[in-house]
Amino acid sequence: MSRFRLEPHPAPISPAEREALLEAPAFGTVFSDHMAQATWRAGGAGWHDHKVVPYGPISLSPAASVFHYAQEIFEGLKAYRWEDGSIHTFRPAANAERFTRSARRLAFPELPVDDFLDSLGALVGVDQAWVPSGPGTSLYLRPFMFAAEPFIGVRPSHLVSYLVIASPVGAYFKGGVAPVSIWVDQEHHRAGPGGTGAAKCGGNYAASLVSQELAYAHGCEQVLFLDAATSSRIEELGGMNVMVVMADGSVVTPPTSGTILEGVTRSSLLQLVRDRGLSVAERPIGLEELLSGLRSGAVAEVFACGTAAVVTPVGRLAGRDFDVSVGDGSPGALTMSLYEELTGIQYGRREDKHGWTHRLA
Ligand code: COI
Repeated sequence: MSRFRLEPHPAPISPAEREALLEAPAFGTVFSDHMAQATWRAGGAGWHDHKVVPYGPISLSPAASVFHYAQEIFEGLKAYRWEDGSIHTFRPAANAERFTRSARRLAFPELPVDDFLDSLGALVGVDQAWVPSGPGTSLYLRPFMFAAEPFIGVRPSHLVSYLVIASPVGAYFKGGVAPVSIWVDQEHHRAGPGGTGAAKCGGNYAASLVSQELAYAHGCEQVLFLDAATSSRIEELGGMNVMVVMADGSVVTPPTSGTILEGVTRSSLLQLVRDRGLSVAERPIGLEELLSGLRSGAVAEVFACGTAAVVTPVGRLAGRDFDVSVGDGSPGALTMSLYEELTGIQYGRREDKHGWTHRLA
């Protein structure tokens, strides 16, 4: 029995209209009929009013502190339709735990892990027809929490809203699983030591937008940030982690030392690489080391990874005074094989040795 009481949509989208929307979903433009929500109030009431309600606009005071001081965190995970029609998500407890860590960093009350999992089950349970079945498609779940108190003094909000919305999605990048170009921003930083880089808070993404615009202006799809302390080491992309495959097949990725997001896809891929007997090193990677490795052939592949991006090959790395292709610019063999393996597990086509999948409906 879910704690999230259902208030069904009185006029959900018709099956024909929904099917048309599910045909070839883009990323994040269409939303399902319902959303889950819960409220927290300071002073003992704790989390209450758990429900699943019709998806729609929410009413907030213009003074709600999220608008002024950006006290907000979010998560991203997906519900996958398996061939037998059942619906599963991937490592939701890992997202729930990260949500808890983000909540602590942004001075929010913690949402119990069970409530997080329950909210996903309740929403996907009622909106299961919204989980698309085309190749590479899924229902993207976006849990988030924000400061709803109408108060413009600077302190943690005494009124907090938790919501989960769901969006049928295809590939994050327009080209699908095709190589993307990356712009290395040597002017702006996303996160600094002791900052919020490891938290999944909207502010980190707001800080990445000007860099993302620069990337577009240079003909690139994504931006890569360097560490704030020395501007010499690669850290993370605007919305995903980055991995480097050396010519000997070993995989290197920057360590999660507080300034980069602890990606669930990142840690899953590192496990899959280890399972293959290949070596993994989580260590600082110098930009110069990466560029010279690309030029000499010591670096064979580079890829982006995240829930939304899954595994996306990087074909080119450009910056103020360099423009280097990754191999011959085509998708790397290990990159594509990891993509196949990970999505194979997520869609129930491959054995789930680590118990990562979690049935929702
Ligand atoms: C995700 O990968 O789920 C994210 O939250 C990143 C965002 C770029 C969509």
